[in-house]
Amino acid sequence: MVNDFTFARLPVVHFGAGKLSELPKIASAFGTRALLITGARSLQAAGRLESVHRGLGQAGIHWESLIIDAEPSTEFIDATCARLRGLETERSREPDAATGIAGFQVVIGIGGGSVIDGAKAISAMLPHANTVLDHLEDVGRNVPHSGIKIPYVAVPTTSGTGGEMTKNAVLSMVGRYGYKKSLRHDNLIPDAVIVDPELMVTCPPHITAACGMDAFTQLLEPYLSPIASPLTDALAFSGLERIRDHLIPACTDKGGDVSVRAGMAYASLLSGVALANAGLGIVHGMASPIGGFFDIPHGVVCGTLVASATESNIAALRKRGSNPAALAKLARVGLLFGGEAGKTEAWNCDFLAARLREWTALLQLPRLGVYGISASDMDRILDKTSNRHNPVKLDRDEMAELISRRL
Ligand SMILES: [Fe+2]
Repeated sequence: MVNDFTFARLPVVHFGAGKLSELPKIASAFGTRALLITGARSLQAAGRLESVHRGLGQAGIHWESLIIDAEPSTEFIDATCARLRGLETERSREPDAATGIAGFQVVIGIGGGSVIDGAKAISAMLPHANTVLDHLEDVGRNVPHSGIKIPYVAVPTTSGTGGEMTKNAVLSMVGRYGYKKSLRHDNLIPDAVIVDPELMVTCPPHITAACGMDAFTQLLEPYLSPIASPLTDALAFSGLERIRDHLIPACTDKGGDVSVRAGMAYASLLSGVALANAGLGIVHGMASPIGGFFDIPHGVVCGTLVASATESNIAALRKRGSNPAALAKLARVGLLFGGEAGKTEAWNCDFLAARLREWTALLQLPRLGVYGISASDMDRILDKTSNRHNPVKLDRDEMAELISRRL
């Protein structure tokens, strides 16, 4: 049976080694005044920034540079947009005839998840004078964003968040009353995406591991989600196959192999589509408050928790007996990751949990305690944790145990 579903539109995707060279042509379709946003190091270290500049120049594109070197905060987005609007006024640029927008005609974001999301938020807020907090889910005034933005070309350099395929930008404020929440509108889906695995070969092993486990989680959780459809299942499973083949090689001896990086980039891309259309489970439900309270990379939270969460989900699903389809899916993933066809469903579920524990150790994913998180933080984390779209509703004790195993 095929259940009812809604499937969001997708950006135009240009995927393949060397595709970065098409950026000038792709960007110039939107205009000749660009805001070029990059990370602090990766593009420079790979010696590619110069060739990006050269290509844009040859295509007659003028650009302003901006660096995003941390997960973007609401203050950063507001301050940056205010400064850039000032620049636009200073130059008294004429509004573009087609869009009515003065100043920048296209935003280009080249970098990891922080750049992809930060650039998405800037492209959404630059044409407006208000604070992004107005539109931030739960913590803001809940004013819907109008959807008016500057066209956005996203170029990921890590295989992790899949943010290049989604309509939300995750922004945070870290601290005692911190949060990690989304700015969201259908129009914020990037207009074009370039996925060039050559950009990923210089990504260091610990970042590849955290981002790769995040991509894995963003495939597994939508696959197990109560609102999954056959369409999202097909995409998630296709991504999981690439994770099986490429995650460990990408983090160990084959990080410099473009075909290995291409496999991870494909998995990450699909994880964005899967999560946008089938939602996320308990790992991401916990990642939101943990990432708001503590300065810890999103990929590390997800990577360090996913094995423990899988163990908790399997135990709770067995105890409740409420969702046999989810256990069958977990067994199918277990089989995909090295289980045995002749064994029972329960055996393959347990195999999956054991395989994930093995990967957590092999990839040396840091424990939460490394970032200052302790048992005394449990209550405030659980108060803000969502079970939304998890295949089983975990109770408070089960969630506490899940986290405790990784403190
Ligand atoms: Fe994630």
